[in-house]
Amino acid sequence: MQPLIVVNFKTYATAMGQKAVELAQAMERASNEHVRMVAVVSAFDLHAVKLAAPTLEVWSQHLDPVGQGSFTGWLQPENAIERGAEGTIINHAEHKVDMNHVQALMEQLPDEFPICACAADVEEAHHLAELGPTFIAVEPPELIGGDISVTTADPAIVSDTVAAVRNINSKVRVLCGAGVKDGKDVQTAVELGAHGVLLASGVTKASDVEAVLADLVAGLE
Ligand code: G3P
Repeated sequence: MQPLIVVNFKTYATAMGQKAVELAQAMERASNEHVRMVAVVSAFDLHAVKLAAPTLEVWSQHLDPVGQGSFTGWLQPENAIERGAEGTIINHAEHKVDMNHVQALMEQLPDEFPICACAADVEEAHHLAELGPTFIAVEPPELIGGDISVTTADPAIVSDTVAAVRNINSKVRVLCGAGVKDGKDVQTAVELGAHGVLLASGVTKASDVEAVLADLVAGLE
C-alpha cells in the first residue's frame, strides 16, 4: 500500500482557480509509483483540476449528505462525483460536522469512494473509527498552519491514534497532519504507523513548490 500525501488546497490564493490547476499539475509531475498523491480542492475547482491533471487523484474538501432536489447551497455528492471528485475529506477542523453527518455521507457514497474523516484527538478518532471511514486524519487544531509538525510536537497523538483505530477497525487507515512541511515529517509519520500525511501550508505557502513536493516524496522512493 503506497503512503498518501494529501494536499488540502483550502482557500489559499495560491491554490484556487487557475492557481489550483497549476498546483495540481505540479503535484502530478511530482507523483511516482511509490506514493499516492491527492489534491483536495474547492468544489468550484474540481472539474478544471481533473481536466488539467487527469492522473492526479482529486478529492472534495467537504460534502453534504443531501439528495437531488430542494437543497440550495449544499455540496451534493453525486454532483461532486460528476464534476471529478474521487474522494472527500469530512469534519475538517475548519469545517466541523456531527457524527450523523459523517454516517449519512458514508451511507450515501459508493463503497469504493474514499472518505477521510478528520479528528482533533485520539478520542474523536476513536468515535469516527466506529463508523468505519476509509481514512482518519488526526490533526491537533492548535498545530494547524504552524511551523512545527505534529510528528515532532506530538508524535504520541499519531501512534496513539494508530493504536486506537486499529483496535476498533483495522481496515481504517490513519493519516496525520498539522505543520507537516517536508520529507522527514512524512517519513516520521510512516514510522509512527500512519499511512501518510494531510498537509496544506507547507505546500500552498512554499516559495518553491516544486522543490517542496520533490522533498515530500523523496524519502518514499
Ligand atoms: O488539512 C490539512 C491541514 O489542516 C493542515 O494544515 O497548514 O498545518 O499543513 P497545515
